[in-house]
Amino acid sequence: MAAGAKLTDAPKLVHVSVDGKLIEAREGEPLLQAMLNAGLDIPHYCYHPKLTIDGSCRLCQVRIEGIPKLQISCNTQVREGMVVHAADPEVALARRGVEELLLLNHPLDCPICDKAGECWLQNYAMRFGSRFSRTRDPRRKEEKRLDIGERMLLDQERCILCRRCVRFCREISKTGELHVFHLGDRSVLDIYDRRLDNDYSMCTADICPVGALETKDFHHKVRVWFLEETASVCPSCSNGCNVMLCTYKNRIWRLIPRRNDAVNQTWMCDAGRLNYGFVMDPARLRTPRVAQADGVADADWKVAIAHAATELDTFRKRHGGKALGAVVSAHLTNEENYRFGELMRALGVERRAMAVRRGKFDDFLIKADKAANARGARELGLVAGDDDGLAGLLSACETGEIKGLYLCSDDLLELVDGSRLAVVLERMDLLIAHNLKLQPLLAKAAVVFPTTTFAEKDGTFTNHAGRVQRIHQALPPTAGWLTDGEVFTRILNHLESRQERFELPRIWDSMAENGTAFAQLSFDEIDPYGVPLETKMRP
Ligand code: FES
Repeated sequence: MAAGAKLTDAPKLVHVSVDGKLIEAREGEPLLQAMLNAGLDIPHYCYHPKLTIDGSCRLCQVRIEGIPKLQISCNTQVREGMVVHAADPEVALARRGVEELLLLNHPLDCPICDKAGECWLQNYAMRFGSRFSRTRDPRRKEEKRLDIGERMLLDQERCILCRRCVRFCREISKTGELHVFHLGDRSVLDIYDRRLDNDYSMCTADICPVGALETKDFHHKVRVWFLEETASVCPSCSNGCNVMLCTYKNRIWRLIPRRNDAVNQTWMCDAGRLNYGFVMDPARLRTPRVAQADGVADADWKVAIAHAATELDTFRKRHGGKALGAVVSAHLTNEENYRFGELMRALGVERRAMAVRRGKFDDFLIKADKAANARGARELGLVAGDDDGLAGLLSACETGEIKGLYLCSDDLLELVDGSRLAVVLERMDLLIAHNLKLQPLLAKAAVVFPTTTFAEKDGTFTNHAGRVQRIHQALPPTAGWLTDGEVFTRILNHLESRQERFELPRIWDSMAENGTAFAQLSFDEIDPYGVPLETKMRP
């Protein structure tokens, strides 16, 4: 290393005065971003922190001392000693002019627009615009509800030509479907000769400041002011994109990305965004199912847990714990999987496997592992090997070495050939399962517990890169419902005559005491953006 070279290249900080308030900023960063970082409320449309600067809307204008004309702050770099005025009469007049121009041809169809309530045009017009229109000419007519993609609609009349969506398609999805055609007051947003069907197409609706781009999935479903937002993590692949679950009347209405620069910036894929219907699936198992002499019947949770504990104890005495195999779930949280590991240890289980579905991936956000917490289960030491032990477990079942199975995974039923799995499951002396639905393959199970989805519980997932992130309960389960972690805990209590509870801080204490990979993390510091496992584990 050259003499005098620094280990880190920390950006130089400069100081800028904005309306008399001194703010600190990184030298060279956009003035608008510096003001937003300082918590100042500066109106803007076309600027987006993850896209190149367009400078087309002109709403972010400010007065800078020493420069005769107003400047757009998104395309002005900060420098030491800059004196900025963002709230003086000249700036206010300019903003009102911009708003008036943008509203000249706007259809004002807010009552039927999905964006109403979170529309930047609506909000800024109310705050900075004029309360009356000076125009008498009819408004320009363009196409409405244009079907431009499998998941997207375009309303050309509402578009304010900020070109965020155009830049997104060029710079992020790199598919370039959208473009502003024609010039001047004839300019119109449209698609080229291909539809807006890229894997991230629905992000264009997130970044559209008005309701020009709408998703078909959310179209005319519910007004946004009714929605409650809960911070969570997308369960659909191991990338662990940060999301907001938007709920109303006990159901999910949409998933939208939540900014986390270390994981997904401000984006998420369409497949993940649309994967929430299974939470409200009417075919979901809602009550434990217990095998009885005359068939299978619904059972109270307490009865089902006692029955599962008795069956496991009997099996252990008859065959020994080594004859029981376990299938871990990559959809359960770290805490649930830790408790499942404790249960399996108490039973003497040695052979464990994990079934993870694999599918389409790209070099951006979409990962091949189609579950949120495969890495977490591996870090806990529950499974090992290239296939997470699945082939070995299945052949041990086929040779008779394994005579009973505790299955926590829906994915196993999709991953393994149905006829092969049917033969394996048929041979088992004991089968206990946690599943979303009652599957015919589980007909022989002594107990099937309904599993709890990511939207209905608290806990953590570990993404593919080892980042531990919190999920939060967005939908309350029905009265008396027990999560998978609570079921494992209660079975363990039966077997070991103890009175443990499934409480996250206590599980984290236990994970630390037992020297797991999570030992050096603190549960309280995980929110809101997660903590990388490896970094924390370095001395
Ligand atoms: Fe600066 Fe649009 S945000 S010109």
